[in-house]
Amino acid sequence: MSWREFWNRENSIYVSPRHRELHYDGIAKGINAQIEDESWVVLDHGSGEAPSADLVARRCARLYLYDAAPNVQTKQRLQFGRNEKIVVLDASGVEEIPAGSLDMVVANSLIQYLSRAELEHLLDNWHEKLKPGGKLVLADVIPEGATAANDIRALLGFAFRGGFFLEACAGLVSTFFSDYRKLRTELGLSRYREADLLALIGAHGFVEARRGEPNIGHNQGRMLFTARRS
Ligand SMILES: C[S@@+](CC[C@H](N)C(=O)[O-])C[C@H]1O[C@@H](n2cnc3c(N)ncnc32)[C@H](O)[C@@H]1O
Repeated sequence: MSWREFWNRENSIYVSPRHRELHYDGIAKGINAQIEDESWVVLDHGSGEAPSADLVARRCARLYLYDAAPNVQTKQRLQFGRNEKIVVLDASGVEEIPAGSLDMVVANSLIQYLSRAELEHLLDNWHEKLKPGGKLVLADVIPEGATAANDIRALLGFAFRGGFFLEACAGLVSTFFSDYRKLRTELGLSRYREADLLALIGAHGFVEARRGEPNIGHNQGRMLFTARRS
C-alpha cells in the first residue's frame, strides 16, 4: 500500500470525534492566521476532509480544497457543495487553476508523505499558480531527527488539554497494530533540515523563505515555513 492508498481508505488517525473536531478546528485557525486580507484566494493542498474549512472560507474570498484521495473529495463535496466560497477540486481541477491567480497556497502536514521529487514538482506548480508576491505556507514539516515518540508526546499533551486523553491512549494501542504504523516503518516519512528546506524553496523561485511560529496544529515540535513567489 502507498501513502496515497492509505489516505483514500477509512483510517483511525483520529482517536475520537472530539479529536477530529479539535484537530481540524486548530488547523482552520492556523490557516486563518496566515491569511492577510479578506480578498485572498487560497488553495489548501492536501487538505484532508477539512470539516472546519467554512471557518477559513469566512476569512477569504475563495477557498480551493484539494486532496488527492477521491474518497476525501467526495466527503468534501457532500459537506461543502452549497458553500459558494469553497471549491472542491480533483487533480484536473488543480491543473486548471489559472496561472498567477492564487494569493496563498497552504500545505499542512503534507510534505512528509511526498518524495523529494514530488515536493519539487509541487513547488513548481505552486509557483506557477501564485500571483507575484503570493504566499506559500508549508506547515507541520517533520524535522530531521524527530521520532514517533515526539509525535506521541505531542498527541498526549493535546489530548490531555482537549479532554480525550483516555481515548488517545486507546488510540495509540490500535495505531501500534495499524496500517499507519506499518507504512511509517516500511515507507517512512520525509524529514527536512530547516536550512535544506529553505534552500529548496528558494531554488524553486521563492523569496523571503523563512521559518515561522507557531506551527499550524498541536505539534509544536514540527516546523512552519513561509515564502513569497518572486
Ligand atoms: C496528514 S493528512 C493532512 C490533512 C490536513 N492538511 C491536516 O493538516 O489535517 C495528509 C493528506 O494529504 C493528502 N495527500 C497525500 N499526497 C497528496 C498529494 N500529492 N496531493 C494532494 N494531497 C495529498 C492525503 O490524501 C491526506 O488527506
